[in-house]
Amino acid sequence: MTEAKLEAWLDERRAFAPSAEFAAQANAQSSIYEEADRDFEAWWRSEANRLHWDTPPTKTLEWDLPFAKWFSDGTLNASVTCVDRHVNEGRGDKVAYYWVADAEGEMRTITYAQLRAMVCQAANALTELGVKEGDRVAIYMPMIPEAVVAMLAVARLGAAHSVVFAGFSADALSSRILDSDCQYVITADGAFRRGAASPLKSAVDEALQSCPNVKAVLVVQRTGGDVHWVEGRDYWWHDVVDRQSDQHEAKSFPAEQTLVIMYTSGTTAKPKGIFHTTGGYLTQAASTHHYVFDVKRDTDICWTAADIGWITGHSYIVYGPLVNGVTQVMYEGLPDSGGRDRWWKIIEELKVTILYTAPTTIRTLMKWGPELPDSHDLSSLRLLGTVGEPINPEAWMWYRQHVGGNRCPIVDTWWQTETGAILVSPLPGITATKPGAAMHALPGIYVDVVDNDGKSVGNGEGGYLVVTKPWPAMTRGIYGDPERFKETYWKRFPGVYFAGDGAKRDEDGDLWLLGRIDDVMNISGHRLSTTEVEHALVGHPAVAEAAVVGASDETTGQAIVAFVTLKLSAEDANKDQAPLIEELRQHVAKVISPIAKPRQIILTPDLPKTRSGKIMRRLLRDVAENRSLGDVTTLTDPTVVNMIAGLMTTSSSEE
Ligand code: WT7
Repeated sequence: MTEAKLEAWLDERRAFAPSAEFAAQANAQSSIYEEADRDFEAWWRSEANRLHWDTPPTKTLEWDLPFAKWFSDGTLNASVTCVDRHVNEGRGDKVAYYWVADAEGEMRTITYAQLRAMVCQAANALTELGVKEGDRVAIYMPMIPEAVVAMLAVARLGAAHSVVFAGFSADALSSRILDSDCQYVITADGAFRRGAASPLKSAVDEALQSCPNVKAVLVVQRTGGDVHWVEGRDYWWHDVVDRQSDQHEAKSFPAEQTLVIMYTSGTTAKPKGIFHTTGGYLTQAASTHHYVFDVKRDTDICWTAADIGWITGHSYIVYGPLVNGVTQVMYEGLPDSGGRDRWWKIIEELKVTILYTAPTTIRTLMKWGPELPDSHDLSSLRLLGTVGEPINPEAWMWYRQHVGGNRCPIVDTWWQTETGAILVSPLPGITATKPGAAMHALPGIYVDVVDNDGKSVGNGEGGYLVVTKPWPAMTRGIYGDPERFKETYWKRFPGVYFAGDGAKRDEDGDLWLLGRIDDVMNISGHRLSTTEVEHALVGHPAVAEAAVVGASDETTGQAIVAFVTLKLSAEDANKDQAPLIEELRQHVAKVISPIAKPRQIILTPDLPKTRSGKIMRRLLRDVAENRSLGDVTTLTDPTVVNMIAGLMTTSSSEE
């Protein structure tokens, strides 16, 4: 990417201004920023009217920094506001989901009335198994409708779900189950990926060996593969759920009832159980879905191409779109299940109007060539979104041209598991966009870019992104660890939320997000901590020490590069180490997840350390990205880095 090329694109930025046609039909008016600024609490209070409240709140915000309560005297039921409400208002026949299977030709259409019946049956089944208000239920499932039904059924009972991405290992699953003491698990026998069945239940069985408190496991049959069965603990979904009544009287719960627990990587090896409560989270998920995607309930077909195992799936496949009562596409497979043009076929067939995905996926689709999207009719699309990492201008331009036909606005949305919903994004119909910039905080959201001392930087300068006022969907904390919550987000700059991202304000004052500034890596939009991967490596008997960095990667944004010293005898050291390197990569996949597998492992006799014994990751990142080395004067032994740089060039990178 040359500066000149970006400059040229930016010069043409009138091209990215909202078309008059789009601006005329967009949901938002530019005056909503001023309206929200006049009284941001009143703004959010009126946005809360998107929900169906049993007791409408009279309170809006109670702020005891860093702990917020929103709408605390209101009561509601999350599943009623997502599902029953639409049926009661006469929209029962409207399609909630077009579920598209991994295999071509397999599809299910689920209306709001059917969804309500499924959720009621599942809620009755969970009640029979013992789930009660305030319990925690782990969900470890592929992208099938029952995953959404499971989430809504848990929510309906006033329990909290902790959805664990089905790509995580048994170890990762058990540590998450233990951390929030989940006593129930909902899973499937297996999952399909590009036509092949892979087991899932076996990971649950392995995980549960160290989780004695789990009382029941509910298993959806998806693949029909062999499963190990524990009598009295394991129950087939079709045995227990299908025979239940499809009526269920939902209770009303306080707005601050915990709804979501979602683990995410921090800078230490232990993932953080970020939790969200009901009223504020649902309000902002629905509100942002409405404005950012310019959603029209009666005509749009929304497709968030993400997994429900991440917050994107929670807020923009389940809660936001369901509160808004729209029709969605939910897709089980990979972008190339059944061929590399699968996505374009789905969009063409189902006439998708809004597509939301991650830059890493766009870069993959881009690698497969523009002929694929170009040869399909994508004219139903009217808006495109991205999330998960900074989008490089080339990918943005490709998305605009080959997917959006130079007609669809692109919203680059910045947010986090912790923020619960989008905080920074252009508004279609209002904001003239720039390729690679997330532009502005949304109405009612207040962010700043500050320097090391917490002082606001001027236009044209970079610094750290902070959020200066509370927002409804903000996390209420880290499950069971309020101290860590304060320490991680509220200590670096007193009084404001520290996101952990670098950001720049350009000459026009628009925001560009620059990625993490801490030891958190972003691999294909998945958040992983360097320490987590280091711990996994050090857990292998051959490894003495490990240092992990995220190096930039053309497709995945960042890729994991690990520098490892071994506990080896001189004799072993002379052996061919390729098999060991492969073993270490598999070991990390097993301990964390295949997504955490290092792209490259460099075996080195030593690691560069400061005089105080800290590993100098900055230098290793320079080495991993083939940059010239900066200041090495604080190193105990500066020659170590040069030696490692030498090893880098001789070791081949593996796929
Ligand atoms: C981190 C949060 C929010 C759902 C997906 C990821 C990065 C996210 C953007 C964007 C630049 C972005 C940040 C953030 N990020 N969106 N539009 N531009 N960076 O959720 O796993 O909690 O990760 O993803 O670094 O801190 P997450």
